[in-house]
Amino acid sequence: MKEAFRSIFGTQPHGIWAAPGRVNLIGEHTDYNDGFALPIAIPQTTLIAARRRDDGRLRLHSAQGDGPVHDLALADLVPGAVTTWAAYPAGVVWALREAGHSVGGADLHIDSTVPVGAGLSSSAALECAVAFAYNDLYGLGLSAPTLALLAQRAENGFAGVPCGAMDQLASSCCTAGATLHLDIRAGSHEQVPFAPESEGLRLLIVDTRVKHDLGDGAYAALRAGCERAARLLGVAALRDITPADLPAAGRALPAHLVPLVRHIVTENARVADVVAHLRAGRIAAIGPILSEGHASLRDDYRISCAESDLVVDTVLDAGGLGARQTGGGFGGSVIALVAEDRAAAIGASVTRAFRTAGYREPNLFPVSPARGARRIEREVAET
Ligand code: GLA
Repeated sequence: MKEAFRSIFGTQPHGIWAAPGRVNLIGEHTDYNDGFALPIAIPQTTLIAARRRDDGRLRLHSAQGDGPVHDLALADLVPGAVTTWAAYPAGVVWALREAGHSVGGADLHIDSTVPVGAGLSSSAALECAVAFAYNDLYGLGLSAPTLALLAQRAENGFAGVPCGAMDQLASSCCTAGATLHLDIRAGSHEQVPFAPESEGLRLLIVDTRVKHDLGDGAYAALRAGCERAARLLGVAALRDITPADLPAAGRALPAHLVPLVRHIVTENARVADVVAHLRAGRIAAIGPILSEGHASLRDDYRISCAESDLVVDTVLDAGGLGARQTGGGFGGSVIALVAEDRAAAIGASVTRAFRTAGYREPNLFPVSPARGARRIEREVAET
């Protein structure tokens, strides 16, 4: 990273920061309903080599972008002004300034192993890496959750994606060996130990390679539907509806909103159930709950797709303990909880099923919960 930074910007970086992608174990689309989620950080990470500048310019280079350096004036950073990937880092600087932090420019070189469009939060990893770099470069002293919320503000207010806070909180606050139990309304989180290997299990990610795009309006429409349902039910957010309230809610709402509400209410309950099992050391017991979560996304929230359904069905037919599409929806990645000694056979079944269906070959890899965002230059082998 330092070598690349030097050759691009002709000077030394002040440091290197890292922020990971994430997968969500359970608790999908609950974050913008003030609810609960349970993500883990994954080992795939975005690295940023950064140097502070005091001339009001933000210069951005990405090893994946393969293009020239974006050279932006801080004074020109207004929502809508940047429409490429550069909107994510530029948005973080905008969000910091909008929140009253007197930060200036920087040179940033970015290199990432988080696959883009795979539902693994590559944009949140990029935003959080920039937020953590700026926190140190400008001595802001902000906490990890505060940086995460500024990163979410960047995505909402500058990049124009109306996401919740789960991805940025996961990238910023996760620890190795644990899931992050998020209570969005309370603004709190707890680490819940999750080490499937210790039980002879594996968590597999299957990237279906069907690209989702949160900016395409479907996500915003779902969010608006939930907010409308909450208003009609007279609550601040769907978090306030319990499973016992569902029959009455079903009678009070227009028919098309009922399944949305049912998904959110049952999904919040599934987060609580999974956390209880993990705390009791019963990892295998969460498998069926993950699969129920998928059925709810498919049938009630209606954001699955044929490829994700095929992964889930194939994993379960091949003896997996549970599987579900993860993230925003409409493709991206599926997670599967499987016995270690079945992992290779289950992976092969999924690949075969995709071939038979004429789909692109999926990417399969195991993951363990990894660390959240941090400064890392001392960990990087220098060349
Ligand atoms: C995307 C959003 C998150 C969350 C998930 C669904 O990843 O960025 O805020 O809403 O979808 O759980």
